[in-house]
Amino acid sequence: MAYLIEKPAEIAKDHFLLKIRPDSGSGTPAPGQFVNIRPYEGSSPLIRRPISVFNYSDGIIELIVRLAGEGTRMICSRKQGEIDILGPLGRPFSLPAGKRLLLAGGGVGNAPLYYLSLELKKNGNEITYIYGSRSAEYIFFEDKYAQAADNFILMTDDGSAGSRGFTTSGAAELAASAGFDAIYTCGPIPMMQGIASITTVPQIEVSMENYFACGIGMCSGCVVETANGLKRACVEGPVMDGKSILWQSL
Ligand SMILES: Cc1cc2nc3c(=O)[nH]c(=O)nc-3n(C[C@H](O)[C@H](O)[C@H](O)COP(=O)(O)OP(=O)(O)OC[C@H]3O[C@@H](n4cnc5c(N)ncnc54)[C@H](O)[C@@H]3O)c2cc1C
Ligand code: FES
Repeated sequence: MAYLIEKPAEIAKDHFLLKIRPDSGSGTPAPGQFVNIRPYEGSSPLIRRPISVFNYSDGIIELIVRLAGEGTRMICSRKQGEIDILGPLGRPFSLPAGKRLLLAGGGVGNAPLYYLSLELKKNGNEITYIYGSRSAEYIFFEDKYAQAADNFILMTDDGSAGSRGFTTSGAAELAASAGFDAIYTCGPIPMMQGIASITTVPQIEVSMENYFACGIGMCSGCVVETANGLKRACVEGPVMDGKSILWQSL
């Protein structure tokens, strides 16, 4: 069984850092993959909650969990000790080398992009990172994100930190002139939809965070309509080709 090595720590308003030592048999996670956590050892809630890998270092998986409802509240109030997780699961981001890349995250959607940024940097890519947040109190680990990128831009909806504005417009403005090879994004659906509509960048990878149930391809609870048919986001994602998703169907 995996082990939660310390009590979850609140690192920004309603956002908690979890450090988990996985089972010895579980593989190394790739950026964009998630783990499916059983919130509680009792019988309710039964359904596991999917949470993206924020970082993986020295055999420890780190996660950032935002309080949303009952399940995440239970996860964030766990004590040090055994924790039931499945994974790492799902289709990860691609890891090219020597490219100019834009990473754009919104809210807790920044979480999977940190590990991605570190791994892309190792491959010699030039990284511009737009960190978007509703307001200053929800920003986590700004310094770590800034260090992991070549250019770091902080944006908040209300202007309480960084420049005022939405990540989507920041990304569109930069993409019009910077000549990026690809954009990687994770955040609220309208944000990712806006970024996926940018035509000046050939490749746009999005990490879908829609509702999951089983998390292992068995129930079709997570299906996303794409130009290539229905795709189960838990196994054919969560990372998907943003340009192929039929966003208006979500
Ligand atoms: C692949 C994937 C990766 C994810 N990674 C992270 C992560 O790194 N950190 C993190 O904090 N969360 C992440 N999420 C979202 C997280 O799984 C949900 O917030 C969580 O399952 C909600 O459970 P709950 O019991 O707390 O809330 P519930 O009681 O189930 O719902 C509470 C409220 O949140 C809304 N909600 C529930 N699930 C979602 C969802 N998937 N998307 C949008 N709104 C939702 C409900 O409509 C409701 O209003 C991820 C989701 C997916 C599919
Ligand atoms: S959540 Fe069951 S198939 Fe994806």
